Amino acid sequence: MQEKIDQLIEELKQKFEEVKTMQHLNDLKVAQLGKKGVITELNAAIKDIPNDQKKAYGEQVNRVRTFFNEKFTEIQKKIEEEIVNQKLQKETIDISLPGKKIKTGSKHPFNRIIEEVEDLFVSMGYDVVDGPELEDDEHCFRLLNYTVGHPARDAQDTFYIDEEYLLRTQTSASQSRVMQANKEKGPIRVICPGKTYRRDDDATHSHQFGQVEGLVIDKNISLADLKGTLEIFARKLLGEDTKVRFRPSYFPFTSPSCEVDVSCFNCGGKGCSLCKRTGWIELLGAGMVHPNVLRMGGYDPDKYTGFAFGTGLDRLAMFKYSIPDIRYMYSNDIRFLKQFDRCDVEK
Ligand code: DAH
Repeated sequence: MQEKIDQLIEELKQKFEEVKTMQHLNDLKVAQLGKKGVITELNAAIKDIPNDQKKAYGEQVNRVRTFFNEKFTEIQKKIEEEIVNQKLQKETIDISLPGKKIKTGSKHPFNRIIEEVEDLFVSMGYDVVDGPELEDDEHCFRLLNYTVGHPARDAQDTFYIDEEYLLRTQTSASQSRVMQANKEKGPIRVICPGKTYRRDDDATHSHQFGQVEGLVIDKNISLADLKGTLEIFARKLLGEDTKVRFRPSYFPFTSPSCEVDVSCFNCGGKGCSLCKRTGWIELLGAGMVHPNVLRMGGYDPDKYTGFAFGTGLDRLAMFKYSIPDIRYMYSNDIRFLKQFDRCDVEK
């Protein structure tokens, strides 16, 4: 019996040698330990063995079964390792291949200019506030001293929604909202950038455009504060050499009112097509907050004074980035927008 088992073990060794795949290995198991397997049958034959030899016989069968199981586990492990290795080999990454270029978007010049203006005023201690684009007549006009039938209303080419509501024609509307919202009637120092709308459409006017409004209210605010603030604004935004001049003007919500021009940054003031040979470019409207506006906003004009200013954001972007037509700002032409995908676009 011992010899028979030795021989069987030798045969199994040979068979295990030949095993290459998991399938082979499992077939071998079935052939040895399956229902009609060689080892299974050896085991079953124990019932015909005389009692005094049963023990020795059983030991021999166990020997071959133990051998089989140990060898099976060993080969199974080997095959599994090989499978993993092959997989790893197949999935290696060729790091010499060029990478895929990721297309990135670019910041729209409108957002670019808003961020720049916001940073500038935030550094001077201003808060940035938002106002509704769908406004009512009260905030856009009446609280800003435009009485019903006031001729200055005509200049604004308003999109009316109905008798009461309209698309705001100026961010000045947020002046009246900010004053109303300040319950303690304390000092105010805000800018409000955003979209505005008018019934206008040509190379320098779009029915949708952007403005930024500034409002400062406190005790003892004077025209000198307005001048100083706007001079800093112009120089920081357009360059330290920029000259600023103030011309008297008229707006219903400021008194006195002025328009502010800056020396043409294209020709340095010598005169060119951009500044129409004048050497100056109109930048913004401004003035001291009208006492009526303060009163309607709940402020006592005997105690408080203030200044306000407003300018077109598209205009600023057009100057800064040399954009010849405002309609480029809103046409979503990828060739135009792509020119702004570097962070350092400067005029
Ligand atoms: N809202 C005016 C406009 O759209 C601009 C403006 C002028 C705003 C004078 C002001 C201001 O705050 O004081 O033309």
